[in-house]
Amino acid sequence: MQDFTVNPWEVKGKVDYDKLIQQFGTQPITDELRERIRKDAGELHVMLRRKVFFSHRDLESVLKDYEEGKGFFLYTGRAPSLGMHIGHLIPFIFTKWLQERFKVNLYIEITDDEKFMRNPDYSLEDTRKWAYDNILDIIAVGFDPDRTFIFQDTEYIRNMYPLATKVAKKMTFSEVKATFGLDFSSNIGIIFYPALQIVPTMFEKKRCLIPAGIDQDPYWRLQRDIAESLGYFKASQIHSKFLPPLTGIEGKMSSSSPDSAIYLVDDKETVRRKVMKYAFSGGQPTVELHRKLGGNTEIDVPFQWLYYFFEEDDKRIEEIKEEYSSGKLLTGELKQILVDKLNSFLERHRENRERAKELVKDFKYEGKLAKAMWEKVHE
Ligand code: TYM
Repeated sequence: MQDFTVNPWEVKGKVDYDKLIQQFGTQPITDELRERIRKDAGELHVMLRRKVFFSHRDLESVLKDYEEGKGFFLYTGRAPSLGMHIGHLIPFIFTKWLQERFKVNLYIEITDDEKFMRNPDYSLEDTRKWAYDNILDIIAVGFDPDRTFIFQDTEYIRNMYPLATKVAKKMTFSEVKATFGLDFSSNIGIIFYPALQIVPTMFEKKRCLIPAGIDQDPYWRLQRDIAESLGYFKASQIHSKFLPPLTGIEGKMSSSSPDSAIYLVDDKETVRRKVMKYAFSGGQPTVELHRKLGGNTEIDVPFQWLYYFFEEDDKRIEEIKEEYSSGKLLTGELKQILVDKLNSFLERHRENRERAKELVKDFKYEGKLAKAMWEKVHE
């Protein structure tokens, strides 16, 4: 019996990422491939060094096209919700680095339609309002306004629809049903929706690289079955692990249990309270025992979060690991390191988010790439 589940709607249990690679038929990012990225990019992002981005499909082909001057483009996305948490930022932070390093176009799909159709409780008005709000958080990450197009499905549909019909005609209900676990009571919007997540992989006649959590993989499997028959490349992907919830390393941080997530709007005191009260610790029950036996960094969520990317300095993270494992660093002290990191990260994020309000129209409509995209109908 498999003790974990990963699909676009649910991540449950302690994910065995090596097993997942086998199960999904993706490739591990090997040391050799990491070195090649370092050569092409000039450096290695912390999430590559720490294997947060751990798996891929056809990344070699993307690098080859880049090295040969053919170029490529980036595509990622977000189903808007009431307030993003820090886990949601992982693919965006990494994508920003890729854009900066490779100087390529980036398309960000905001699926206000998907979110609405998937959830009986949400109105379209809700998901459109959240779209605006989430877009501010995404812009705050710092993308290049001339090379980035952020589009909301319910707005940009007219330009995508011709290509979406071609994509949709290639996929049968039984494939979509099996891939996403739909049934005969599923609404017909959600049956068509995968076509709309696939279309942006065909926005340019270059290779598309998708940085995203590995939960989105089923869409790309479908894409890869049909892309070439429509005259496009099979999409390449680079997959990330999930930032675990505060409350323990199983599953992924999710909006459905607010105490287990740090939201981008959480203020300093809330962050402190949540980490101190809920963060699952790998430390020992008493100070005496901890000093004697040390803590377990493998299951300690504050350590894991620092390791994912909040402590970028490789030397410092090794030091923390060493001190915690040996019992020199106490649980409360480790938690405090995380609280400080989170709060300074969130403070900067909130400043950027304020500035983002002035930039929405550039990313969505008026920036160089956005303007060109509104003039283009995808056939
Ligand atoms: P959504 O909104 O569920 O997730 C957005 C992105 O965040 C990743 N993610 C996480 N990454 C690390 N740790 C976590 N705890 C965590 N939770 C979520 C997801 O893997 C995803 O990359 N259908 C999509 C929207 C979409 C999309 C795309 C996503 C449309 N086009 C292209 C990626 C690429 C969705 O529901 O994403």
